[in-house]
Amino acid sequence: MRKGAMAVALFWAAGSAMAAMDIEVLARTCNNCHGVGGISAGTSMPSIGGLPRDYLKNVMKQWKYDERGAATMNRIVKGFSDDEIDALATHFSKKRWVPVPQKTTAALMKKGKSVTFENCEDCHGAKGDDPDEDAPMINGQWAKYMTLELEKYRDDGFKMPHRKMKKNTRKLKQADIPAAAHFFGAQGQ
Ligand code: HEC
Ligand code: HEC
Repeated sequence: MRKGAMAVALFWAAGSAMAAMDIEVLARTCNNCHGVGGISAGTSMPSIGGLPRDYLKNVMKQWKYDERGAATMNRIVKGFSDDEIDALATHFSKKRWVPVPQKTTAALMKKGKSVTFENCEDCHGAKGDDPDEDAPMINGQWAKYMTLELEKYRDDGFKMPHRKMKKNTRKLKQADIPAAAHFFGAQGQ
């Protein structure tokens, strides 16, 4: 290798090592809310560790470019470059998805099972652990968080770009929403 090329190669290697460290530091700022390894302690805060890379990237970019509403995350991602968002998505997608199965009532489970069998299973899997490629895992995701999200898809005044989720949640009755959220929230690995 010529001396010049060598210097460039070394400089490049140092640069990417530093970028990797920066992402570790940046990712640690997420722990306060989403938990260590992206495993949330609940209840309106979602777990994010192990979700598919494309899903993580997609929602963060939609917040950054004002294509998706949020109470908190839109402000947090505004300061990040697209490269940082990609790196954060890669970082969290490499973690393990750890469902936190929550206790619920037999009545909600029974109702939830029939609602989700009819309306949700095709895309999320029977337990919420086998999602379509543009969807996240929802088995053991926090039920309260999911109830809030499902209401956002149903709300005309709230910007949610995914047309099929809007359509699917809007055809449900009000009482079906917590039942579906509790059913998926109670599922384990
Ligand atoms: C101050 C608390 C807070 C911090 C810090 C925070 N988040 Fe969030 N995050 C939230 C809340 C609240 C939501 C639910 C959406 C909303 O209301 O903004 C959320 C939702 C998300 C989601 C969507 C999860 C899903 O299943 O759809 C992703 C992805 C995410 N955050 C990534 C991150 C990353 C990456 C960081 C660190 C750079 C981070 N968050 C830092 C509060 C936080
Ligand atoms: C046509 C496929 C499809 C169907 C049917 C469907 N979903 Fe989804 N779901 C998705 C996709 C794709 C996403 C991610 C959407 C986005 O980016 O906003 C999603 C997102 C979600 C989320 C948000 C997860 C998070 O981490 O923020 C929940 C909760 C959810 N779905 C529950 C349900 C329930 C309950 C039903 C049945 C009533 C259902 N879905 C039906 C494809 C589907």
